[in-house]
Amino acid sequence: MKTEYIGKPISRVDGQAKVTGTAEYSADFKVDGMAYGYVVSSGITKGKIASIDTTEALALPGVLHVFTHENVSGLPWFNIKYKDMDAPSGAPFRPLHDNRIRYSMQPVALVVADTFELARYAATLVKVAYKVHPHTTDLIKNLHRSHKAPLGKLGYVQPKSRGNADEAFEAADHKISASYKHSAEHHNPLELFSTTAIWENEKLTVYDKTQGVSNCQFYIGNVFGLAYKDVRVISPFVGGAFGSGLRPQYQLFMAVLAALELKRPVKVGLTRQQMFSFGHRPVTFQQLELSATEDGSLESIKHEAFAETSMFENYTEIIVNWSGTMYHCDNVKLKYELVDLDMFTPLDMRAPGAVTGAHAIESAMDELAYELKMDPLIFRLKNYADEDQKEGKPFSSKELIACYREGAEKFGWTARSNEPRSMREGNQLIGWGVATAAWDAFQAPARARAFLSLDGKLVVSSGTSDIGTGTYTIMTQIAAESLGVKIDDVTFKLGDTALPLAPLEGGSWTAASIGAAVKSVCEKVKKKLQKLAVKTKNSPLYGFDKTNLLIDAGYITSHNDPSKTISIQDLLRLAGVNNIEETATSGPNMFNKMKYTFNSHAAVFAEVKVDEDLGTVRVTRVVCAVAAGRILNPKTARSQILGGVVWGISKALEEDTKMDHQLGRFMNHNLSEYHVPVNKDINDIEVIFVEEKDAIVNPLGVKGVGEIGIIGVAGAIANAVFHATGVRVRNLPITMDKVLQIAEDDTNQTAV
Ligand code: MOS
Repeated sequence: MKTEYIGKPISRVDGQAKVTGTAEYSADFKVDGMAYGYVVSSGITKGKIASIDTTEALALPGVLHVFTHENVSGLPWFNIKYKDMDAPSGAPFRPLHDNRIRYSMQPVALVVADTFELARYAATLVKVAYKVHPHTTDLIKNLHRSHKAPLGKLGYVQPKSRGNADEAFEAADHKISASYKHSAEHHNPLELFSTTAIWENEKLTVYDKTQGVSNCQFYIGNVFGLAYKDVRVISPFVGGAFGSGLRPQYQLFMAVLAALELKRPVKVGLTRQQMFSFGHRPVTFQQLELSATEDGSLESIKHEAFAETSMFENYTEIIVNWSGTMYHCDNVKLKYELVDLDMFTPLDMRAPGAVTGAHAIESAMDELAYELKMDPLIFRLKNYADEDQKEGKPFSSKELIACYREGAEKFGWTARSNEPRSMREGNQLIGWGVATAAWDAFQAPARARAFLSLDGKLVVSSGTSDIGTGTYTIMTQIAAESLGVKIDDVTFKLGDTALPLAPLEGGSWTAASIGAAVKSVCEKVKKKLQKLAVKTKNSPLYGFDKTNLLIDAGYITSHNDPSKTISIQDLLRLAGVNNIEETATSGPNMFNKMKYTFNSHAAVFAEVKVDEDLGTVRVTRVVCAVAAGRILNPKTARSQILGGVVWGISKALEEDTKMDHQLGRFMNHNLSEYHVPVNKDINDIEVIFVEEKDAIVNPLGVKGVGEIGIIGVAGAIANAVFHATGVRVRNLPITMDKVLQIAEDDTNQTAV
């Protein structure tokens, strides 16, 4: 029997390092002679820097330099407009390039000093005079300026319509029309962005908080005109990122700029307030029109979304496309447009677009189910999509029905009475809601290296990252099982450009992408060992059929005669081989990709209790049933779904970065006024992984779980709030004033 590690609930291999504090995050790295940078942020939203006076700051002993647009020039990037790997179409913002202010809190200067405290104090002495221009930051007021979202970003595809949704909607007996508005949200990982840049012997070493070391390496190379080989980026641990680390952030630029100029190691970290200055989940406005026949068959879906972007880049995400795939419907009309505003470019945030679109389509489905007087779960099953109608392709696998069934069973859905306000406990109105979720199962090209040494230890590496998802652990499991060594003999390394090239960690594709490369490289080592075993004289397996050898727990054994066995260590010694090293590249099977749609799915069931007098909403139970192919590690995977559900609750009820449109500035840019749930807000969360075998999607049959857990949650909660109260709150977050209908909900419309 071969030892299995894949699919086992193995604890994080990096867990001990994390809880004992030996895991080093980007701001933890220290070197002798380090200087500290502090960023000065713009106080206005749009205009020009009229003058910038640094004399007072520079006069302080220990202040080394103040970088501004006046003294930073001649960078290659200022001419070539280099784009990073996660850049949307447009021209990326280039810090300290010119005197123009494009958004509130834009970095306008970097003060570098011997100590952090001195740099921070000196930054208060930098006097910036502005010429203020009028700005505009309100999406709703600017909807008339919307324009098509151009292609340009990986993964984004223009929405495809089909049939004639306008006509079908016009003629239908049962229909709803509704608008939904989402607030801005910021990622707020606990770890702040920080970069330490060290310039030594014409080589640059950079410690950065990032979801992709190679992205930063290429960025630095292009921005500063350095050869890639002279730039090494290291990022072994990341304290949460959720998409915020997909693009190189400006502290990276600042730290490298200062280190190259001052010829001294420089560390630049952002403050919590500045964490609100480089990208967010955009404000969106969505309009949904759905119609169905008397028996509950969907006849038409119309989904329009408008999202904000900056004046310089077209941030695009897939908001409406899911509405063409989630349900069977012959008439679908989809539209997605952007509105350019005076703000920084929005940025991918966990399940970008899907979270936004799913809340709207899943709320609208609920509204139509009520219009039909149907149970919302039965309505969804009635319109189940067996294939991807949008692309005209089958799914490689889709166990969503099992998600509905197992989730409903666990939740006790059949005990639900469909009428709003029909379930209560004293003055607590009880509501049960359901929603569907879908996400892409991507695979990106990746490389991995394996190094097996004489002591039988295996080191496998790839330049990916672990943003807290469990990458270290699952790659260790895959490596141990694929080669056949004990898991304790395997070390997985990541987060370093000295390691083989890997894509950004994002899109829930790391398990599949890096996993496939790790599997492939370990199988190469395995083949070499098998060959060695039958070719080495004095090996008990000499002359055996190499294809008939089992490798397990560090031993190579004959299938036919288990008494013939040798440890890997003994074999290497006997053969006089010091080590075995292999590299492998893996990538998606393009033929399968063309033929099938790869999606993960989930069904989310939520229970809310709403205080009838106060309008406060508590989410008392969530069941999230997930079909995501093979689950590599039920423990780390469950954590991913739990985290997603918690964030979904947060999105539904709490998160809202408030822009003061008169100032064009996010006002609650701190963790006291930006609301997130605390432990007391989170109650019972049940995660179910339904069995889903998929031999097509990738060699491991894995679909990724980083994002699927958040997608349906806000919809399920919004639907539960309606079921509890009879009030349909369409604008997130669902706050007590909206539940009590005190606040005017300017975008709400009633069913037609
Ligand atoms: Mo994620 S938004 O793919 O880091």
